[in-house]
Amino acid sequence: MNLILMGLPGAGKGTQAARIVDEYSIPHISTGDMFRAAIKNETALGLEAKKFMDAGELVPDEVTNGIVKERLQEADTKNGFLLDGYPRTLNQANALETNLASLNKSLDAVIYIEVSKDILMERLTGRYICSNCGATYHKINQTTKVEGVCDRCGGTDFYQRDDDKPETVENRIKVNEELTQKLLSFYSERGIVHTVDGEEDPEDVYTNIQNILATEK
Ligand code: AP5
Ligand code: MG
Ligand code: ZN
Repeated sequence: MNLILMGLPGAGKGTQAARIVDEYSIPHISTGDMFRAAIKNETALGLEAKKFMDAGELVPDEVTNGIVKERLQEADTKNGFLLDGYPRTLNQANALETNLASLNKSLDAVIYIEVSKDILMERLTGRYICSNCGATYHKINQTTKVEGVCDRCGGTDFYQRDDDKPETVENRIKVNEELTQKLLSFYSERGIVHTVDGEEDPEDVYTNIQNILATEK
């Protein structure tokens, strides 16, 4: 299954992606995670991306399209993939279409996680992430079952993202709002958009996603 997970910052893409890729055994391709890994490893890509991410702006399309193009050529995408946070612009959506066509692939579904704007700020400023496996939690909404221990991998080290400061979050939402609507129109024209209510509990959001994916298999 070749999937895109869409939603504004904090909608729950990462939270749902972890469940989807565990169940369907497809790679999780998150451009945000790829940029953060590059920043951690202090590569040229990381240095370039950091300037934009720290400001809550988008990394330029040429850079982002380049890394996704390479990633989609890897063997583990043979049986499918889950794109999280890509595409974010029409330029990226068109580049993706061209890339997939050249690989003889096409998209099966776009899942849009819909959450109203006023909820996103609270979600992002309360988020913490497992340093070992990337599982995402929230200090109020979604804590670990055992305090300080990751449910998914047992890790005990967690971090908060640099771009989750309130002023950066505000800009991230602003930057993505209009673009998200444009992308939804783009994929609606192709008849592959499925919208889920992202304001329900994470488990219920996932059940809705499973129901959608069951019709795609
Ligand atoms: P990226 O890492 O993709 O960040 P984002 O889009 O801002 O989204 P987030 O990862 O912050 O949120 P999420 O939807 O994954 O929510 P999560 O599951 O964590 O991108 C970061 C930056 O990289 C961009 O700003 C840009 O600079 C650059 N970039 C990335 N891709 C790019 C591209 N294609 N083009 C150009 N630049 C790009 O959940 C959030 C919180 O809410 C958590 O605490 C979680 O526990 C909680 N939560 C989740 N679901 C629920 C629920 N149902 N109920 C209650 N709480 C919930
Ligand atoms: Mg994410
Ligand atoms: Zn973990």
